[in-house]
Amino acid sequence: MCIGLLGLGRIGRAVADAAPALGIECRSALVREPRKHLTSSLTLETDGLRVIDSGIDVLVEVLGGTEPARSLVIGALDRGIPVVTANKSLMAAHGPELREVAARAGVPLLYEAAVLAGVPFVGALAGRPVMASATRIDGILNGTSHFITSAIERGATFGEALADANARGFAEPDSRADTSSRDAAEKLTILLHLCGAGHVTAADICRRGIETLTPADFAAARRLGGSIKPVACASLEPGRCGSWAGPAFIAAGHPFAHFSGVTNALELRSATGEPILFAGPGAGPAVTAATILDDVHTCSNGSNGSAGSWGSWGSVRSTGSVRGAVVRGARFDVSAARFDQPPASRWFLRIVTEQISDAHLAEFLAARNVAAARIERGADDIAVLTVPASWAVAQSAARTLEQLGAFVTALPVVGREVPR
Ligand SMILES: NC(=O)c1ccc[n+]([C@@H]2O[C@H](COP(=O)([O-])OP(=O)(O)OC[C@H]3O[C@@H](n4cnc5c(N)ncnc54)[C@H](OP(=O)(O)O)[C@@H]3O)[C@@H](O)[C@H]2O)c1
Repeated sequence: MCIGLLGLGRIGRAVADAAPALGIECRSALVREPRKHLTSSLTLETDGLRVIDSGIDVLVEVLGGTEPARSLVIGALDRGIPVVTANKSLMAAHGPELREVAARAGVPLLYEAAVLAGVPFVGALAGRPVMASATRIDGILNGTSHFITSAIERGATFGEALADANARGFAEPDSRADTSSRDAAEKLTILLHLCGAGHVTAADICRRGIETLTPADFAAARRLGGSIKPVACASLEPGRCGSWAGPAFIAAGHPFAHFSGVTNALELRSATGEPILFAGPGAGPAVTAATILDDVHTCSNGSNGSAGSWGSWGSVRSTGSVRGAVVRGARFDVSAARFDQPPASRWFLRIVTEQISDAHLAEFLAARNVAAARIERGADDIAVLTVPASWAVAQSAARTLEQLGAFVTALPVVGREVPR
């Protein structure tokens, strides 16, 4: 078994280091600047086609970004060379196209490490399309933002938490993709593609960063019996489709409330059974390389990786065998549904104002169709949990409060657990 690497950064180097022990020869690697890699024993190339055409059995793409990754992956698939990638930006932007090219060429395209890198769940759902017919996806898909929000919950400012994440190597020098929730939105896009919504792009996902969160937001959530987590979620139910990537209120009884630090988690609900939960490390060179090499092994062990992966299951759906989520026995086609607003939910509001009594606030919210189910007053602010309402209704109420001089944080409530 011989692989070629596109990229020799943190992940590429970890793959090259771990491969020999598994009997996998790492032949050559594409890099931008060979002089940065003088100590590498691999043949270094600056032309990706030379890696592809060097007689390899599997191409491992760990460049990041969309180009030249997309063109090179297509080049390999067209030549009948299986591809393993960890690149979520690539799969979020071009996943449906690449899966189609792979299906046409009849070669595997595996990307287990692109979402929840250390938790191999895509393959686990491979042959179980009914179980995987999700009607609801909830995930903590970005370890860096989870580390930062966990630190803010303990009293740190955003700046202190980010500096700590940098010092421990959890955040990249440019951490905006993590803190703006763009990374989580890309991963959610890949999950939506797998659920039949191949038309969704990362730009469609409604997202909000974690930069403005403060310990006071967490204190308000605590008064209501919950916490705040960086969540990416989507509803695939008829008439309720929507998505969100950003901070969300989680009741203390929700499984996510027990996770902290860099842990990633994914809960899938379907109409046919109890929710299933996957959790574990979501990033890091060693775990990501292990998942990539497992994918390489899948390509090599004779099974058609693409037929045995959720990736090809996605294309099965698009040919009509399984279309969209299974809802009450009927098949709901999500391929044209819109996901550009958060799903309707209860809302967590933190309101900083000196001018309103609890009774007036309750009256104000009820008149705007987002009635308060609970109000907990703190020393400096008011924490509110509302009844379910659409994003537009909740936003409109929050904007009106702001026009009246209040400072408002409005976050969706994720999960069915009732806070105590
Ligand atoms: N880091 C993680 O924990 C993690 C986890 C899961 C998935 N991933 C994904 O894995 C991929 C790689 O991540 P990473 O952290 O290893 O990135 P990285 O450290 O920035 O490495 C990128 C590598 O690709 C090379 N490269 C980039 N653009 C190139 C171009 N246009 N031409 C030639 N070479 C190019 C770079 O070459 P030079 O060395 O010459 O600059 C470098 O070797 C990304 O898609 C990332 O999202 C990462």
